[in-house]
Amino acid sequence: MSNTLQKNLDYKKFVIDSKLQYFKPHATKIEKTFSEEISSSLNRDLKFISPKFFYDKKGSDLFEKICSLPEYYPTRTEISILKKIQDELPSYIDKNFRLVELGSGTSVKTRLILDIFAKLEGTLEYFPIDISEILTESSEQLLQNYSRLHITGIIDTYEGGLEFLKTYDDKKNLILFLGSSFGNFFPNDGYEFLKKINFTMKPDDLFLIGLDLVKDRQILELAYDDSQGVTAEFNLNVLSRINDELDADFNLKNFTHHAIYNEEDQRIEMYLKSLVNQSVVISKSNLLLNLKKNELIHTEHSHKYRLPQINEILTSAGFEIKHTWLDDNKHFSLTLVSKN
Ligand code: TRP
Repeated sequence: MSNTLQKNLDYKKFVIDSKLQYFKPHATKIEKTFSEEISSSLNRDLKFISPKFFYDKKGSDLFEKICSLPEYYPTRTEISILKKIQDELPSYIDKNFRLVELGSGTSVKTRLILDIFAKLEGTLEYFPIDISEILTESSEQLLQNYSRLHITGIIDTYEGGLEFLKTYDDKKNLILFLGSSFGNFFPNDGYEFLKKINFTMKPDDLFLIGLDLVKDRQILELAYDDSQGVTAEFNLNVLSRINDELDADFNLKNFTHHAIYNEEDQRIEMYLKSLVNQSVVISKSNLLLNLKKNELIHTEHSHKYRLPQINEILTSAGFEIKHTWLDDNKHFSLTLVSKN
């Protein structure tokens, strides 16, 4: 870390060996944020739980299961595009790039990009940024398969990770943001987030973003409400997490998963619906939550895009489009951009 410009005061550093280290914010920072955020987002008329809280260990495992469900087309479609561009991406990168990934999860798709880097000389550097500890397992597995790989994992929010990266060193970065996770932002927050990425990037850095496209309502709704009920379990799991970590008494049987496509706003809207009139205590957030029968707690939006909108959003956030790749059915897109 000779080029390190930053003293990461808010982070604790864990050096596992010469090829693997993690940075993690001091625990108090995370806990405070969780209970505070829950206390304000549930204490209002339109109740909301931020989707970033889905990803505890159980939630991350369930999400992996979602990714391989027959109804959930985004993962396999994005993988098919990544395979298709393995011959084209090398013309944009060289051995001096480091791979950075926002929301790396199990790093399955990452392998397709690492395979490209592995064909170049030099060390392979990977910076996964993920809010879940799952990052540690996936990193260890990657190291078993890529002998020249060095990993610096950042267990934090996207924003924290970007902040960390911004002052880290002067190496070129290829930043990945896959899985249409961008679509989970509210449009304004998404725009601000893209500007943050843009601001983090150096002139030669690249950014590859995977976005889901507008398609038939039926395909969309099934992808977020599968026949095996895995998505329902995933959505409900956030209540178990609040029970465990914030000392709450949600009875999961009193809630159901609800996902609908809002055509006008081009998004899947996901909710937890209260099946009865009920009160829930969330001790660590100092909250007594009253819910009416059929009242909704909003947990996630998943926006879908048309190609001109993708160009418009990225351009307005200060990016220059290098290329957009699609699958044959035009179900999903990958766009490579640089800073304008
Ligand atoms: N980024 C994913 C998407 O919008 C996240 C996701 C998929 C998701 N399925 C979900 C989030 C179910 C919550 C519940 O497609």
